[in-house]
Amino acid sequence: MRIAVMGGDGTGPEVVAEGLKVLKAVSEKVGFAYTLKNFDINGDRYLAAGGDPARQTIPVIHDAEVAELRTFDAIYLGAVGHPKIAPGILEKGVLLRLRFELDQYINLRPVRLYPNVPTPLKDKGPADIDFIVVRENTEGIYTGMGGVQYKGTPAEVSTQINCTTRFGAERAIRYAFELTRRRNSKKKQLTLVHKTNVLTFAGDTWFRAFNEIGEKDYPDIKRDYNHVDACCMWFIKNPEFYDVIVTDTIFGDIITDLAAMIQGGLGVAAGGNINPKGVSMFEPMGGSAPKYTGQNVINPIAAINAVGMMLRETGLSKGDKKLVDAGERIENAIMAVTPKMQTQNAGKMGHSTTQVGDLVVAAVKAG
Ligand code: IPM
Ligand code: MN
Repeated sequence: MRIAVMGGDGTGPEVVAEGLKVLKAVSEKVGFAYTLKNFDINGDRYLAAGGDPARQTIPVIHDAEVAELRTFDAIYLGAVGHPKIAPGILEKGVLLRLRFELDQYINLRPVRLYPNVPTPLKDKGPADIDFIVVRENTEGIYTGMGGVQYKGTPAEVSTQINCTTRFGAERAIRYAFELTRRRNSKKKQLTLVHKTNVLTFAGDTWFRAFNEIGEKDYPDIKRDYNHVDACCMWFIKNPEFYDVIVTDTIFGDIITDLAAMIQGGLGVAAGGNINPKGVSMFEPMGGSAPKYTGQNVINPIAAINAVGMMLRETGLSKGDKKLVDAGERIENAIMAVTPKMQTQNAGKMGHSTTQVGDLVVAAVKAG
């Protein structure tokens, strides 16, 4: 397995280092080979090359790098975001560019409360918080379509188009139905989340695609629909109701941050940007956390979790059982370590970043 590693900005490289420690341990345990190649795609490089921190003046990632990244089996990303660079430059220049150009049309976000991880939800435990969000990742309001006119005057007008295609909705929906079918849950239930009562064009495209595909090809899967605002309410009130959720990109962005909080925070949550027939990219959700950089206090669990996802998803798409097994072992090792941590928050884990990595390595070896 050939893995491209992009530590990125802030605490990204620190948490990625822990993920790679765990990767090494699990590869020795299960017996598979891999190679790593580092890419120094980050905000410091952009600034050093003379990039303007206020607006993008030079590429953040080079065309040749995108071409090379396409040749790997997977990409492991730490974090994107630099305190000296205006918001949007790195996000669009690295993360969104790779998602779009590598056609990673699924953003997969498992939401699972691990043992002994505090959740802000009263009376809810690991048995109640275990679902997965399939977020469409290449269209919707993220395409950048639209524009601004008369900028800076009282007549300023801006539009931001919610570009929704049947093709895009359909492939996300099909992926979600397949996932619901193979997921090890009793519910076998897929919930579409949108806002069909107001977004009557885009919402309707999703709604009809969801029901037509479900009725014709997935009669064994129970279909359910939630408006996005109601979904936020149910996450807090009855998270145990959910099995798999499919939604568009902006709703998915918002509900997965809420979901990350009920699963114990951004120190735990990981995500995959998936192209089922191409190169997928895996990342912790936490961001670059500049104020914790270099202090050995950031939580590496999410980044280790991302390695687990990377192995499991790559194994599934390539039909490689060893990789799937390795991914599951990492998740099990994490579940053996979370009870030994005081909290999942940076600086309050009762351990340093590297110590948490060592605990997971030990649990992989013992597993
Ligand atoms: C996420 C992030 C990104 C998104 C940002 C950094 C562009 O919030 O992966 O959820 O909005 O998709
Ligand atoms: Mn987000």
